[in-house]
Amino acid sequence: MPDYKRNSKTSGRLQNHPPNIFLAFPMELIAWFFLSFFTCQQSSALETGHELGLQFLTRELLAAAREPDFFEWLRGIRRRIHEYPELGFEEYRTSEIIRSELDSLGIDYKWPVAKTGVVATIGSGQKPVFGLRADMDALPLQEEVDWEHKSKIDGKMHACGHDSHVAMLLGAAKLLQAKKDTLKGTVKLVFQPGEEGHAGAYHMLQDGCLDDVDAILSIHIIPSVPTGAIASRPGPVLAGVGLFEATIRGKGAHASSPHLARDPILVASSAVVALQQIVSRETDPLEAAVVTVGYIEGGKAGNVIPESVKFGGTFRSLSSEGVSYIQKRIKEIIETHAAVHRCNATLYFMEDRHLPHPAMINDEQLYKHAKKVGEALLGEPNVQLFPVTMGAEDFSFFSQRMPAAIFVIGTMNETLKSHQPLHSPYFFIDEEALPIGTALDAAVAISYLDTHVVKTCEEPPSAYAF
Ligand SMILES: *[C@@H]1O[C@H](CO)[C@@H](O)[C@H](O)[C@H]1NC(C)=O
Ligand SMILES: *[C@@H]1O[C@H](CO)[C@@H](O)[C@H](O)[C@H]1NC(C)=O
Ligand SMILES: [Zn+2]
Ligand SMILES: [Zn+2]
Repeated sequence: MPDYKRNSKTSGRLQNHPPNIFLAFPMELIAWFFLSFFTCQQSSALETGHELGLQFLTRELLAAAREPDFFEWLRGIRRRIHEYPELGFEEYRTSEIIRSELDSLGIDYKWPVAKTGVVATIGSGQKPVFGLRADMDALPLQEEVDWEHKSKIDGKMHACGHDSHVAMLLGAAKLLQAKKDTLKGTVKLVFQPGEEGHAGAYHMLQDGCLDDVDAILSIHIIPSVPTGAIASRPGPVLAGVGLFEATIRGKGAHASSPHLARDPILVASSAVVALQQIVSRETDPLEAAVVTVGYIEGGKAGNVIPESVKFGGTFRSLSSEGVSYIQKRIKEIIETHAAVHRCNATLYFMEDRHLPHPAMINDEQLYKHAKKVGEALLGEPNVQLFPVTMGAEDFSFFSQRMPAAIFVIGTMNETLKSHQPLHSPYFFIDEEALPIGTALDAAVAISYLDTHVVKTCEEPPSAYAF
């Protein structure tokens, strides 16, 4: 049982900061403001001023989120949601917690969006519009960690950290609301249902209320990165994924009379082998792809050729074109193999229950922007390059529609044994990461608006963007 009672004030996490930046700060800041207000021209003084502004902003936000009262509130939200996990599109209670916190903060929101989702708005109501997204759903899993705030719902658990994502986004809402009059645009806070295989992101986007979002950030906690560090990478970061199920219909007969049968087992056998050649023979070896058949069901007796066989699995690729190519070839290969053996094949890609996800591509500019903010927040060595994995995340639907980036927030802490992987029944997080995600969300949003001001003079708005 991990020790949960500990001081919210942390020390020793930020040794990598450049020392004493504050001493040199006020004069530079005044200069920076002066330049921002009175010139539209690109200048190195402005850039330096901006970097100092960013140092100041990020630390101010992190310090605020680590204030004991703020931290208690943040952790309390996460724990309340953790105790009552809800599966995809059933996040009624979670949605209610979100709305009641937004009400207390005096923040406007739209609800319902995609059944239980909430979209809150802070700022001027004008362009630019920056989005921050958190997913809300839990997993059908029995929590095996015995602690004070263990899931009270049998067979359901927040084992992917979405409880903490909601808390951090509400934390960012509070920080942003405190600065609402100085925001140079609008921040939309997207509380999204049904990430775990329900394509909730896709359904949120069907609602027009996110059409005006210029760029969006999502964070996800990760137990493989230590608390105090964050990570991401530009470009492809997570795979696109689809599911399939094939039903092969033949003709049953006694095993002693194969000539009277049309054997679906033979079709399944040769099709499963042939499917492996999509990756080994048709895909560029430098492009990652996966085809896995995870189950075969068919036949009951050793002396009977069955009527039909079912098998299915998943396919993944680091590009969305790759996903649709593999999907097309799975269908062709299985249908053709069925035809060879005089059987019929029906392919079901579960589009009604599990929409194929595109690959998650981090927008290079937005990645650079958030990385820079992260470096100001945590020190350069604490912003790591995250490896590409063939995992998936439905935030990719956002990345298909607008510049998007996902960053992981480390929660690994040896003392707490918070290194269990996502989706493990032993999954456990270091809650000291909550203020970090909160501050990152808010800082990326504020500085995005600052650097994408819709200008009245000739220079392009990105003149001194990161
Ligand atoms: C395959 O489908 C065709 C057309 O529906 C049908 O005529 C045929 O009997 C089916 N064959 C098998 C083996 O089920
Ligand atoms: C890990 O958690 C312990 C116990 O809460 C805390 O004292 C320690 O500072 C944390 N370590 C790091 C590296 O964050
Ligand atoms: Zn998950
Ligand atoms: Zn997740």
